[in-house]
Amino acid sequence: MTGAENKGTALITGASSGLGETFAFELAAAGHDLVLVARRRERLQAIADSLAARHSIKVTVISADLSESHAPVDVMAELGAKGIHIDYLINNAGIAGPDFIEERDWTVQRSYFELMMISYAAFCHAVIPAMLERGWGRIINVSSMAARIPRAGDCNYGPVKAYLIALSESLHATYRHRGVHITALCPGFTHTEFHEANGLTTMKNATPAFIWYGAEVVVREGLRAVERGRPVYASGRLYRWVDPFLQSVWLRPLFRINWRGGTTH
Ligand SMILES: NC(=O)c1ccc[n+]([C@@H]2O[C@H](COP(=O)([O-])OP(=O)(O)OC[C@H]3O[C@@H](n4cnc5c(N)ncnc54)[C@H](OP(=O)(O)O)[C@@H]3O)[C@@H](O)[C@H]2O)c1
Repeated sequence: MTGAENKGTALITGASSGLGETFAFELAAAGHDLVLVARRRERLQAIADSLAARHSIKVTVISADLSESHAPVDVMAELGAKGIHIDYLINNAGIAGPDFIEERDWTVQRSYFELMMISYAAFCHAVIPAMLERGWGRIINVSSMAARIPRAGDCNYGPVKAYLIALSESLHATYRHRGVHITALCPGFTHTEFHEANGLTTMKNATPAFIWYGAEVVVREGLRAVERGRPVYASGRLYRWVDPFLQSVWLRPLFRINWRGGTTH
């Protein structure tokens, strides 16, 4: 951004662990004030206290369940009341989610869409106009390599992540010339709490180590990608190499494999 002393404020969803927490470390070290959002307030507060002390930045903690439809609007209202505007948005909160057909309760499906798509769209919708007025803004929507693979399986995680790529590409094409960059970041397998939290530890243990990346690699590459104006970015050399094959109209049918029980998130 502008001066070294004024880097603007970054809003990070899902900041209580994994990629979100790592984004918080990196953006704090770069001098940004932070707004940390997730459900676990104590974890957010511990991260906030440590980063505020280490980097002399302001950190605001907001506990919110983003699977609730009013949550993004409530978060933005709280920030408005505190006079905080957002220059940098990291839409990142996420879970593995229910099987689209086998989970018969539509309210469960709907909550999943609120968290995985609508909260992302709502924060983009809220912050972009003011970014355009200021002529500067950065948004990373954390998608996944799973969005690139038309695989049989739970029929939910890949599709919601694919929406984030479509949304990011469209927003980026519309606003990049006005100083606002939007990137869909597509990590492959990444060491975070995700697999343990979503009952996928057995799958994690059954996969080879070389397909796993550290959260720091994913986050640093994501921050570089949005700065360089990349609308979609596969993080990790392996996944960048594989991605063009996944997109090939000739090869996509090969990936329509039923991986139930061995799902890639
Ligand atoms: N790890 C991977 O291999 C991988 C690969 C590709 C993409 N991703 C994506 O990366 C993103 C971050 O995941 P991660 O790997 O860092 O996993 P993680 O360590 O489990 O972190 C998930 C974050 O999302 C938050 N969250 C979950 N449900 C929420 C809700 N209802 N409301 C608000 N916050 C919620 C969690 O906080 P609370 O529990 O405190 O609410 C936590 O901070 C996700 O979107 C995931 O799909 C991960």
